[in-house]
Amino acid sequence: MGSGKVGSTIGFLAASHNIDDVTLINDHKNKAVGEELDISNAIPEDSQFSVVGTDDISKIKDSKVVVIAANNGKIKTGRMDLLKGNLEMTRDFAKNIQKYAQDARILVITNPVDIITYFVQKESKLPRENVMGLGSNLDSSRLRYLLAKELDTKQSEIHDSLVLGEHGDTMVPILSRAKYGQKLISESLDSIQKEKITNDLKRYWAKIVAMKDVSSVFGISKIAFDMIDAVLNGDELSTPASVLLEGEYGISDVCLGVPLVIGKNETKIQEIELEKSEYDLLQNSAKFLRKQIMNC
Ligand code: LAC
Repeated sequence: MGSGKVGSTIGFLAASHNIDDVTLINDHKNKAVGEELDISNAIPEDSQFSVVGTDDISKIKDSKVVVIAANNGKIKTGRMDLLKGNLEMTRDFAKNIQKYAQDARILVITNPVDIITYFVQKESKLPRENVMGLGSNLDSSRLRYLLAKELDTKQSEIHDSLVLGEHGDTMVPILSRAKYGQKLISESLDSIQKEKITNDLKRYWAKIVAMKDVSSVFGISKIAFDMIDAVLNGDELSTPASVLLEGEYGISDVCLGVPLVIGKNETKIQEIELEKSEYDLLQNSAKFLRKQIMNC
């Protein structure tokens, strides 16, 4: 739902990798049909799947996966800028999901993703594990990039790079777990380096906007594609994403990034050991998001 840069890139990845039929929904029909015409040329010759672009939201009927990537407005100071323009639109999407695709797994990209995920889950009434917000997985990928840069090594040398909490300023990089080869990175970095990496992580989105004049596209699209592949093809995927918590990590009635194992038929929330400082920051993130939700 939404065939802008991110939605159409996800559609391109799914169609060109023979994943399944793809339906691109956009309220501007020509935009959706234009992407259909373009992406259809990337479908492998032996594929039995097709791409359809439409403004008819009922075409999500019986979808196995629904991606919400539509966006109204331009991010300026932070993702919260987008809440007003995106909340009612996504609540409407959720009502249509409840009507046409109750068995779907929902991947929310629309920002501010943790709050949008919360209201999409509440409005659609789908099981909480079936509605996931994509943010912490992107942040974890960015942390891996930043750590590799700082240690002057390849990203493949960085393991267990993990960011939890809000996909926003209260995000929590779990530096206690990250490894360079077999060595804990926290033993190689001093507090100044850790603070710099955390700040660069939180402002990563702004650097992309400053350089490209648009928000990120490729990281979030590939992450969504990997999750779609896990849901449809059943290779279990361990990744952090935003989901409604009901007591996990001592947190309830808020969506924020936690470690998940995503499979064909279910999504499991993993409760991992955190250092006290990280656990406290996660509580802070949850408190911030609850406050935002109460103000909606
Ligand atoms: C970013 C947007 C996708 O972090 O939230 O670039």
